[in-house]
Amino acid sequence: MIRKAIIPAAGYGTRFLPASKAIPKELIPVVDKPTIQYVVEEAVAAGINEILIIISRGKEAICSHFNPDPVLEDLLRQKGRESSLETLKSLQEKAQIHFIYQEEMKGLGDAVLCARDFAGQETVAILLGDTILHHASPPSPLEGMMEVHRNRGGSVIAVRRVPRQRVSQYGVISGQPIDPRLTRIQGMVEKPKPEEAPSLLAVSARYLVTPQLFECLADTLPGVGGEIQITDALDQLCRREVVYGYEFDGIRLDIGNQLEYIKSNLMLGLHEPAMREALLQFMAEQVSIHGSANPAASEG
Ligand code: UTP
Repeated sequence: MIRKAIIPAAGYGTRFLPASKAIPKELIPVVDKPTIQYVVEEAVAAGINEILIIISRGKEAICSHFNPDPVLEDLLRQKGRESSLETLKSLQEKAQIHFIYQEEMKGLGDAVLCARDFAGQETVAILLGDTILHHASPPSPLEGMMEVHRNRGGSVIAVRRVPRQRVSQYGVISGQPIDPRLTRIQGMVEKPKPEEAPSLLAVSARYLVTPQLFECLADTLPGVGGEIQITDALDQLCRREVVYGYEFDGIRLDIGNQLEYIKSNLMLGLHEPAMREALLQFMAEQVSIHGSANPAASEG
């Protein structure tokens, strides 16, 4: 039973400037709520009830978003706005959310290492605070990973197949397929050149890790970009114990860059019955004005 999650949300978000200068990118809304709220809801839906969000100085608005606000709650009660009140309170009741500062933004690996005491001796989930994993039907990617962990033990990393020209944006795994969606990972490399990538399976924003990961992180030196890379620690981890790559059904929406952000709004908007028809009509009009897309330009 995995009951704790770590959500790193301390990064500078330079790819999303200027929008992310004063507003944490994790708080920028997609359709009707901040990205990080989708991430917290995903963890809670998978049965997690203790969450540690890693923030940095200047990103305290993330705490305000999740902390109770008794004055606002009273106001909503007085005005009879029960459904808004319920929306605000439901997450608070389902999970305890804690916060900790990453003092210097030395990379995702360093951010996760800040959660070492919180994790203790448990297997924990790590969910990137700027990335939504959208799935059409149960189980969610995280629930699928939990199932693998329950049945086989070890650590489990979400992976998905990407076009070769895009591997240099991600951590990429090497290993042996052991069933249609599971790979026993032998190694990992951060942002390989396309011609050097050991596979086309990219690490995708969700991890279930045993306490050994924190031992590996403590020994990890700065890597690509001068940052402490979680990929380098995971590469060490799979030499010490079993790590699986789980190919999930679903779509990764990394809102940390503008194009993906716009796509995320369209895609999740299309899943809102109240918006679907109007959005489809709008997109059809845009295609007729701008012409249809060149398939070669698609990111796949
Ligand atoms: P990114 O790889 O998107 O890095 O982080 P970033 O620094 O936020 O963004 P860019 O590249 O400058 O645009 C993925 C997740 O890890 C967190 C981020 O907040 C984001 O949710 N992160 C990253 C940290 O918590 N600490 C770090 O040092 C780096």
